[in-house]
Amino acid sequence: MNNRVGVDESPAVNPDPRRLGKLYEHFRKRKSMWIIFFIILVALIIVVPTTIVLVNKAKREKTSTMEITTEIEITTERTTTGTTNEQLLSTVIINKNMKWKQSASTVAGGNGQGSELNQLDAPSGIYVDDDDQSIYIADTDNNRIVRWKFGANNGEIVAGGNVSGNEKYQLKQPTNVILDQEKKYLIICDTGNFRLIKWSRQNSQDQEILIPFIVCFALAIDNNGDFYISDWLNNKVIRWQEGNKEGILVAGGNGEGNSFNQLHQAKQIFVDKYHSVYVADFVNDRVMKWTKNATEGILVAPKNVSNQNPSTMLKPRGVIVDHTGNIYVSDATDHHIMRWSPDAREGIAVVGKEQSGSDSTQLTNPGYLSFDRSGNLYVVDAGNHRIQNFTIDLN
Ligand SMILES: *[C@@H]1O[C@H](CO)[C@@H](O)[C@H](O)[C@H]1NC(C)=O
Ligand SMILES: *[C@@H]1O[C@H](CO)[C@@H](O)[C@H](O)[C@H]1NC(C)=O
Ligand SMILES: *[C@@H]1O[C@H](CO)[C@@H](O)[C@H](O)[C@H]1NC(C)=O
Ligand SMILES: *[C@@H]1O[C@H](CO)[C@@H](O)[C@H](O)[C@H]1NC(C)=O
Repeated sequence: MNNRVGVDESPAVNPDPRRLGKLYEHFRKRKSMWIIFFIILVALIIVVPTTIVLVNKAKREKTSTMEITTEIEITTERTTTGTTNEQLLSTVIINKNMKWKQSASTVAGGNGQGSELNQLDAPSGIYVDDDDQSIYIADTDNNRIVRWKFGANNGEIVAGGNVSGNEKYQLKQPTNVILDQEKKYLIICDTGNFRLIKWSRQNSQDQEILIPFIVCFALAIDNNGDFYISDWLNNKVIRWQEGNKEGILVAGGNGEGNSFNQLHQAKQIFVDKYHSVYVADFVNDRVMKWTKNATEGILVAPKNVSNQNPSTMLKPRGVIVDHTGNIYVSDATDHHIMRWSPDAREGIAVVGKEQSGSDSTQLTNPGYLSFDRSGNLYVVDAGNHRIQNFTIDLN
């Protein structure tokens, strides 16, 4: 402020010719030294404040540029890691305009329903391990967990197999599998045995029952390494740390129903960076989002459902969320994958045809979904006993 006054109001800056003339008269007879001194003084009065103003202005501009840059960096950071967790591996930012090639390649199964190593039988959950270039599959009706290397023609049994049973080394109708944070163990929903089981990747004889008596259906892991387990029978989702007896309720838990604090047969769950839990609320034909510590969910897809306005989402089984909050849902009734954008009233189909079928563009009873690090979309094509890879279309 003071600098501005100096510049705008100083007589030296807006010189009045008459006054200057007077001053000149006054000093005319004095030594030329005085004149020189005066000129220097005038110069200083003009130059110094102006310089200070300019420097300050430059500083201000620099600061605001820095602020903007920092903001952009933070925004970018948020966008990049917005929903980063072990479920959303993609490093490609996926937004509401992203497309996938309509014709998929089969990355596991696809050789009919059966128990050979190149077959699957009603697969449910998948876990894509980009680091190890492999996919783990809960091969439900084969009572086993199989691992398919990317590009392989056969799977490898990594848990269960042979006959189903309730011995520790057996599985019965497993519906989901994930790896723990250190990727040392498989965590398996051993659904038919009503238990959550931990299975060493190094030593297939090393199993441990983590939670007995739970009809576990879906599993997720957050960026702290905590597990999220949907308890199908109790219509709730819990967050659970290894070593703890009890989990913490994070969604549902108010009995079976369609109120916002209830769920009805939760299928796939997805956890974002902020530990919000998205639930494919199967019987209610909707996807609910439960933010951390919430006591009820938010209806995120479809946006507006009432008795007059029935849901256009039919029996969602799979749900994943991209970096920009778009929700991808597998619609088991319509055999395609829909994207529900936060600002859209209706979902749009991204892959699959409305007609079920088994060609490369079709799906039959699609289930769980996953992205890989490159943004390719994997769909459990349960009715065709195969896992489909829809390549991201970056053109
Ligand atoms: C899916 O397709 C993409 C593009 O062809 C490929 O890079 C990726 O490895 C495939 N995934 C698997 C599991 O084979
Ligand atoms: C399954 O059975 C085969 C043949 O009986 C046996 O060699 C194999 O070890 C068994 N696998 C498991 C995981 O028990
Ligand atoms: C959730 O609750 C915990 C424990 O009360 C608290 O520390 C945390 O800040 C809460 N988080 C949010 C996002 O409300
Ligand atoms: C929801 O749908 C009802 C019935 O069609 C309509 O009256 C209402 O305006 C809609 N609300 C919003 C927020 O779109």
